[in-house]
Amino acid sequence: MVKEIKTIGVLTSGGDAPGMNAAIRAVVREAIGKELNVKGIKRGYAGLLAEEITDMGSREVSDTIQRGGTILQTARCMDFTTEEGQRRGAEVCKKHGIEGVIVIGGDGSFRGAQKLAEYGVNTVGIPGTIDLDISCSEYTIGFDTAVNTAMQAIDKVRDTSTSHERCSIIEVMGRGAGYIALWTGIANGAEDILLPERYDYDEQKLVNHIIENRKRGKKHHIIINAEGIGHSVSMAKRIEAATGIETRATILGHMQRGGSPTCKDRVYASIMGSYAVNLLCQGKTNRVVAYKNGDFVDFDIDEALAMDKGIPEYQFEVCKNLSN
Ligand code: ADP
Ligand code: F6P
Repeated sequence: MVKEIKTIGVLTSGGDAPGMNAAIRAVVREAIGKELNVKGIKRGYAGLLAEEITDMGSREVSDTIQRGGTILQTARCMDFTTEEGQRRGAEVCKKHGIEGVIVIGGDGSFRGAQKLAEYGVNTVGIPGTIDLDISCSEYTIGFDTAVNTAMQAIDKVRDTSTSHERCSIIEVMGRGAGYIALWTGIANGAEDILLPERYDYDEQKLVNHIIENRKRGKKHHIIINAEGIGHSVSMAKRIEAATGIETRATILGHMQRGGSPTCKDRVYASIMGSYAVNLLCQGKTNRVVAYKNGDFVDFDIDEALAMDKGIPEYQFEVCKNLSN
C-alpha cells in the first residue's frame, strides 16, 4: 500500500532559470489542492542544511508566474556532495516532517535528489536549466526564454556588424553543451557556429570561410561561439590579424539567465510542477519529470543520469547549409 504523504518540500538548486517560479507556483498550488502542506526550502541544498525552511501557501506564490529568477533563491552547496551533508539533509527533512522533496535544477541537483532518496526521503526532480543539457528530456525550464533573449541580443549585434562590415564572435552560455549556440545559430542565421560537441579547433578553416564570404559579398560574418569553447576575445584578435577584417567579440553572459519567462516556459514549467506533485502522491521516489516525444513523462533518476544526449546532426547540418 502507498504510504500517504502529508508534507512536501520544494527547492531550486544550481543556476537559476526563467520559469522556475512558474514551477514552484504549480507545486505549491497543486499540493494545496491535494490538501498537502508545502515547505519552501531556501537556497537549494545549502538552505536545507541551514534549515531555511518556510511554510508556503497559495498567496506566497501570487504574482510570481511572470517573474524571472527564483523566489526561493538558489545556490551551489559543496557540503551536500559529502555523505555527512546528505545524511544531515535527510535528517533535517525528517525533523520538519518533510516526506517528499521536489528538486528543480540540473544534473548535479538530481544527484543530490538521488542521495536524499537513498536516505529515505522521497524525491522528484524537475529539469530547470537554460542549458538544455538533461539527457532524458527534450525540454528544460528556462531554455526557451534564454534562447529568445540571446536571439534578440544577437540581432542587435548583427545590425552594427553589418553596418561596419565586421566579423562578430558572439559567445553564448551553455556550460559544456552547445544547444543555445545551435538554436541561436539557426535563428540568427549565423555564418558559423562553434559547438563543444563538434568543434575541431581548426581556426584556419574559419579564417578561409570568412574571406570566402567577404569575396561573395557578405557584409558581416557572425560566429556563435559556445561558452564551452570560450576564448572569444583572443579568437577575435587572431581572426582579425589573419583576415584583415575588423573583428569584435561579445560575451552575452548572465543576461541570458534573466527576464520574464516565455509562454512556453511558463506553461511547461506549470505542467511539470503539477506532474511532480502527483508522482509524490502516488508514492513514487527517485524520479525525474521529462518531456519526450511530445509528452510529459518520468524516469528513474539513476536511468536518467546514465542517458546520453548528443547534438542532433540534422539541425547542425541545417544551420551550416542555410548560412550560404
Ligand atoms: P546543476 O543542478 O544545474 O547541474 P550543479 O552541478 O552546480 O548544478 O549542482 C547543484 C548542486 O547540486 C550542487 O551545488 C550540490 O549541492 C548538488 N550536487 C551536485 N552534485 C552532487 C552529487 N554528486 N551529490 C550530491 N549533491 C550534488
Ligand atoms: O547552468 C547554467 C549556467 O548559466 C551555464 O550556462 C553557465 O556555464 C553557468 O551556469 C554559469 O554559472 P555562474 O552563474 O555560477 O557563473
